[in-house]
Amino acid sequence: MSKSPLEQMRLQTPHLIPPLLQDTLSLGFTDHTPPICTKEIASLFPHLSQLPRLHAISHTKRQKQPIKVGAVFSGGPAAGGHNVLAGIFDSLEGGQLIGFLGGPSGIIKGHYQNVERESIDQYRNLGGFDLLGSGRTKIETKEHLQQALTTCSQLQLDGLVIIGGDDSNTNAALLAEFFHSQECSTKVIGVPKTIDGDLRNLFVPISFGFDTACKVYAELIGNICKDAKSAGKYTHFIRLMGRSASHITLECALTTHPNYTLIAEEVHYKQQTLHAIVSDLCDVIEMRSKAGKEYGVILVPEGLIEFIPEIASLIQELNVILNKVDPPSSYALIAGLSPKAKKCFESLPEKIQSQLLLRRDPHGNVQVSHIETEKLLAELVGRELNQRSFTGSFHPMTHFFGYEGRCALPSPFDAAYCYALGVGSALLIQNGASGYMTYLSNLHDPIDKWELGGIPLASFMHIENRKGANKPVIKKSLVSLDSSSFHTLVQKRSQWAIEDDYCAPGPMQFTSDCVLPISVLIDQHKENNRGA
Ligand code: FBP
Repeated sequence: MSKSPLEQMRLQTPHLIPPLLQDTLSLGFTDHTPPICTKEIASLFPHLSQLPRLHAISHTKRQKQPIKVGAVFSGGPAAGGHNVLAGIFDSLEGGQLIGFLGGPSGIIKGHYQNVERESIDQYRNLGGFDLLGSGRTKIETKEHLQQALTTCSQLQLDGLVIIGGDDSNTNAALLAEFFHSQECSTKVIGVPKTIDGDLRNLFVPISFGFDTACKVYAELIGNICKDAKSAGKYTHFIRLMGRSASHITLECALTTHPNYTLIAEEVHYKQQTLHAIVSDLCDVIEMRSKAGKEYGVILVPEGLIEFIPEIASLIQELNVILNKVDPPSSYALIAGLSPKAKKCFESLPEKIQSQLLLRRDPHGNVQVSHIETEKLLAELVGRELNQRSFTGSFHPMTHFFGYEGRCALPSPFDAAYCYALGVGSALLIQNGASGYMTYLSNLHDPIDKWELGGIPLASFMHIENRKGANKPVIKKSLVSLDSSSFHTLVQKRSQWAIEDDYCAPGPMQFTSDCVLPISVLIDQHKENNRGA
């Protein structure tokens, strides 16, 4: 496999590791009381819901135990995944690492490979999930659970590490509960992965991959801001990946200071219609034009479309029909809509209509990465400006930054965080923990202060309607309108709308320290001050 000079340099860079995790023989876990689960979750996860949170402490002597661990990448790639594998590999104490191929279907079908030192050494600190591949198979039926159990039992795995987002960690919870009920000795551990940044809670400050993706997008946005000002003739609509949550958009806005940033959660809170959003955008464009600025940069979260009230209702109706009509024909879909939803659907450009009708992913999610909201907004803003008899010039340029951020070389933060998550997952398995997500705390501090723990997966699950049925799933963490990071954006909004306070962070640097993304840091400081 060819490697660039930078990749070679990153390959040879030693892993940074928190001192607490350096001596894997002297770690134990203290028990805490079980977190509270809802009644419904407790009845579906009778074992997991009773688990206490675990927090690593040093000075507990343990015997050296070789372990056999299976690992799988699940869902979309996120930078740093290979370092999770490397962390597990380096903590096997002479045991074995089995890599399941192509995502969770690899567990069900028993498709795997032995991960040897020669292969893992070719992937340390590099981006992508290509050592094993990934997939989005949802493990939910009795047959799936039984097949997974058969695979893990036949391989005599001590542990199974599922490296994934909210839906994949839901899989991990279902497997852990099932394995426990069947007295299977394989321990199931989840690792918080997703560029979307929506897998976070009191204990998990951020999922891995978010920092790298934001740094890649912020570099490009910063460059576009400079181009917008230099050329002085384009209004750039930039849609950013992130699924439902606007964390990526918020982080990139705080890093680059564009003229306008839409936050989907705010649109939902204010119940802003598509017309109201377009009207606000036109106001900013007109104001800038009057100041002689016929250019600008607007950030659009990819999940926005799901949060605009009338489109949200339309999507809900479509989801129900899509679930009933198989294979779905556009005619049957539209015929099944209520008059209000039909009107909304017909008001949208044809391309957006067909994108809204695309099949949902295996977890029942709308594939927002395929819906060109930036083009929809650019078109509607153009129409509205015409109606307003706008005399300035409006030349929209549209962009979508998504896939280019998922497999970049991991940032120093993601590289260190992922390696520690891998080591931590192996330690949880060595300690007999199952049904947990590995977490690192104190990430806002230098790495020598980072700590390790395990949070029961059931503690952040709730019931959601998926594909027309109520299912237990891990709750997505959306942007909180009470957060300090969001307030920072709000405070700067009017200034950034008119002044060109653009900030270009440039390419990611690999010699820098492991620093948390700015939005996470801002929120962590608030949390810490509250706790102090
Ligand atoms: P995960 O939730 O699996 O981490 O995936 C995140 C994501 O990159 C979203 O931001 C995006 O909407 C989606 O995956 C795209 O999915 P696909 O790779 O199937 O096109």
